[in-house]
Formats: sequence, C-alpha cells, structure tokens
Amino acid sequence: MKDLAGKTAVVTGAASGIGLGIATALAQAGVKVMMCDIEEGALAKAVEGLRQTNADVEGVRADVSLKSELQAAADAAVARYGKIHILVNNAGVTGGGGYGVWTDASWNWTIGVNLMAVIWGVEIFGPLMESHGEGGQIVNTASIAGLISGNGGPYNVTKYGVVALSEGLRVELAPRGIGVSVLCPGFIRTQIIDSTRNLPERFSGVTPASPASGDPVEALKAIRERIAGGIDPLYVGELVREGVENDWAYIFTDNEFEPFIEARFAGIRQGFDQIRGREPRR
Ligand SMILES: NC(=O)c1ccc[n+]([C@@H]2O[C@H](COP(=O)([O-])OP(=O)(O)OC[C@H]3O[C@@H](n4cnc5c(N)ncnc54)[C@H](O)[C@@H]3O)[C@@H](O)[C@H]2O)c1
Repeated sequence: MKDLAGKTAVVTGAASGIGLGIATALAQAGVKVMMCDIEEGALAKAVEGLRQTNADVEGVRADVSLKSELQAAADAAVARYGKIHILVNNAGVTGGGGYGVWTDASWNWTIGVNLMAVIWGVEIFGPLMESHGEGGQIVNTASIAGLISGNGGPYNVTKYGVVALSEGLRVELAPRGIGVSVLCPGFIRTQIIDSTRNLPERFSGVTPASPASGDPVEALKAIRERIAGGIDPLYVGELVREGVENDWAYIFTDNEFEPFIEARFAGIRQGFDQIRGREPRR
C-alpha cells in the first residue's frame, strides 16, 4: 500500500506503547486512525496528544477479548471513517508464568487478548477491507517469543499462534487484495510488564509472568530493566509503516535474537536429519 495519505487504520492497544507508536507513525503519514484500547484514561490522553499534531484520530474503548466489544469498535470505525484499509491487531498482555504456576485464568486472559482478539479482528475487518476493493493490510503483533520459546507459558503459546495465523492468512488473503504482516518485536520500551493494570475482573486469578528457570524475582527484574532500556515504540511504529507500504511478511525491530532463531532452525533440521533416508511405514 504505497500511498497511505487519506487511508484509514484501526489500531488496537493504541493508548500506549507500540500501539501508540504505530498510530503516531501512521497519522504522520496522513492516515486517519481509529485508536482502540481498554484503558480509557490513557486512550483519551493519547487521542488528545495526537490531535494536537493535527492528526485525524478518534478513540474507542473496547476490551478486545470480548468479541462483541471488538465488533462495536469496528462499527464505530466504519461510522466515523467509512472504508477501513489497515488493521493493526496489536493489543497484548503478558499473563501467566510457565509450568508449575499455570492457572486457567492466566491461559484464558492471555489467549483472549493475544490470540482470540486477533482472530476476531481478521474475521470482523477482513470483509470490510474486501468490500471497498481498494486493498488492505493487516498487521498482527506477535513477538520474537512467537519464533523462539523459553518456556511453556501462555504468552509464547499465543504469540506462536499469531505467527501461524499470519503466515497462513498471508497466503489466503493475497488473492483478495489484502496483505498480511506479522510484527515480531524484541525488547521495546513500553508498559507491557505491568499488563495486569488492564486485567478484566472475569480473569481474576492470573499468575505473574515468570521465566523458565532461576530466581523468578531477579529474572523479572532483569526483564523489566531490558524493557525500560528498550527500543523507542515510535521507531517500531515507523518500521510498521514501512512494512505496510511494502507488504513485508515479517517486521522485526532489531537483530538481537536472530542467532536464537537460527539455533531453533538448527534443532528442527537436526530432527529431520535423525530420520533422513528412512522409508516411513504406510
Ligand atoms: N514491549 C515489548 O518488549 C514487546 C515485545 C514483543 C511483543 N510485544 C507486543 O506488543 C504489543 C503491545 O504491547 P506493548 O509492549 O506496547 O505494551 P503496553 O502495555 O504498553 O501496551 C499494550 C496496550 O494494549 C492495551 N490492552 C491490554 N489489554 C487490552 C484489552 N483486553 N483490550 C484492548 N486493549 C488492551 C493496553 O491498555 C495498552 O494500551 C503486545 O501484543 C505485546 O505482546 C511487546
């Protein structure tokens, strides 16, 4: 989608962090943006801040882990802007730790926000994008944790799901004029580590995100520090804008984790090597 000026985007999780960075970068290119978020105060502030730069933006409050609220946000976007060209399924939470501290609440919350909302976003906005025939782009925010997994916690599982969904949809939707990109950020300077600030009441009982091994308190402190010193969310937004303009399949933010992904590929290759030359029994 080369000419972004005048197009319309819906960005979820747009009140802060990466979502706000994406909304800002798109607005700077002349895109009209419907900003969707669960956090009402932060959303109002974000909308107001962007309007002061003469951006054409609107805010809609929705808990994207409820399909009816996401549908209502889509209705509001259509009522305000008409045609929708870009969908950024970005809202996400770090809910729950790995083996030993699982709870149903952690799984349900994380799957609801990080995965089901992305699926519903495609289901709701895909036909809207197809209907105007001007083409569209879907960007789904996964994570580097969608390509390498350090534990069996809900976060990584949902992010792998978002990568799988995006890779598959990219093939399915291309003939319909819709490009699909998956954003896989490394450490970005946001409030992600304090995700429980937006925990809906119905998911009470989530366990804190915890790492695979070692002292969980120290490890969490280390992750918090990496995020505090992480990449500027607006820089990520600018990369996403470039990804939309050029229909990038994968949008990475940096090369820090590339060797770890190479190591995963090597492990997969080893699995194939172990059975190479055998004749499977049928
Ligand atoms: N920060 C990082 O280092 C990092 C790395 C990889 C991936 N990500 C992903 O980036 C995305 C954005 O996260 P962030 O880092 O900007 O964190 P953030 O907490 O700063 O922003 C997330 C936004 O999503 C909103 N949100 C949370 N639950 C919601 C719900 N149920 N309905 C609607 N909105 C909801 C929050 O209010 C917030 O504005 C997430 O999908 C996250 O998993 C972040």
